[in-house]
Amino acid sequence: MRTRAVVRQAVADDAEAVAAVRRVVAPYKAMSPAAVRHMLTVQSPGERFLPLVAERDGEIVAWASAGLNVWTSEPGQSELAIYVHPEHRKQGIGSELAGRLHQHLTEVGAVRVRSFVQPEGLEFARNLGYDGTRQMHYAGLELTGLPEQPPTPDGIELVSLDAVDPRAVYEADTIASLDEPSDSPLDAVEYDRWVEEIWDSPSLDRSLSVAAMAGDEVAAFTVVETAVDRMWSGMTGTVPAYRGKGLAKLVKSVALRKAAAAGITSAYTSNDDSNAPMLAVNNWLGYHRVQTELGLLRSLAS
Ligand SMILES: CC(C)(COP(=O)(O)OP(=O)(O)OC[C@H]1O[C@@H](n2cnc3c(N)ncnc32)[C@H](O)[C@@H]1OP(=O)(O)O)[C@@H](O)C(=O)NCCC(=O)NCCS
Repeated sequence: MRTRAVVRQAVADDAEAVAAVRRVVAPYKAMSPAAVRHMLTVQSPGERFLPLVAERDGEIVAWASAGLNVWTSEPGQSELAIYVHPEHRKQGIGSELAGRLHQHLTEVGAVRVRSFVQPEGLEFARNLGYDGTRQMHYAGLELTGLPEQPPTPDGIELVSLDAVDPRAVYEADTIASLDEPSDSPLDAVEYDRWVEEIWDSPSLDRSLSVAAMAGDEVAAFTVVETAVDRMWSGMTGTVPAYRGKGLAKLVKSVALRKAAAAGITSAYTSNDDSNAPMLAVNNWLGYHRVQTELGLLRSLAS
């Protein structure tokens, strides 16, 4: 009989093992050990982030985390994620992790929790009081046979993000993010936090990320994160005045080509089911759906 898994707080040196569990459970999320280490070490204090692992016989078999969403003006919004290695399921590990995290979130003042689950996790989540609200589609693309790169419109210059003032990228990101479908508006993103968590993230490859500049203004941009042979599109955004001109298609086309030239073989991304323009862009690029996760919400009793 196997020994019981022990739940403990995750530390930075768990990054490699946590990334491995994440890769088995959700290979389409393409998160490197360096990015996990960054997640474990860099947080806003207001987030009250609690990372947990379950360990059995010295092996990490599950990862879970929860914290307050500090990027929205709505108080008490929080997020929770649980990844149990498929060989260690149905043994109470997920329930123990959920219990610890719900207790933590209640203690730090959360009133509502959002979580995304794979279809096989739906019953588990429903039993914990979660209810469905939205669908998130994950899609992948092999970086061969990309469609022809569209022409660059007059007045637009394409540059890689390492040549752009981070403040200009922040402006475009925060403006565009307001229109990304979500349950809580992303309307309270502080510049310093953004620099720490996004701009300085070790997974962000600024040389592969692309901006379409209109003078000094970022009209559109796409952010590339890398994990060995895979890339993840962290965010693509076009500021409202420049939408519908093909700029999202253009910046992603260029970024995917750069990634292919740098030896990346596949690309992944996620889109809310209701984000018709972004789905149109990704379908045009040739992405195919690899997974749908269900976005669920649960109230925490006050
Ligand atoms: C999604 C977004 C980046 C698109 O930027 P854009 O520069 O306007 O995109 P493009 O002009 O390159 O292409 C838009 C495509 O969406 C299509 N489209 C626009 N509105 C649409 C709608 N309501 N339904 C279906 N398709 C739509 C356009 O027709 C076009 O496709 P087509 O060229 O095949 O006709 C932009 O709307 C945005 O910043 N949204 C908010 C941030 C966001 O959600 N980012 C994605 C996070 S995953």
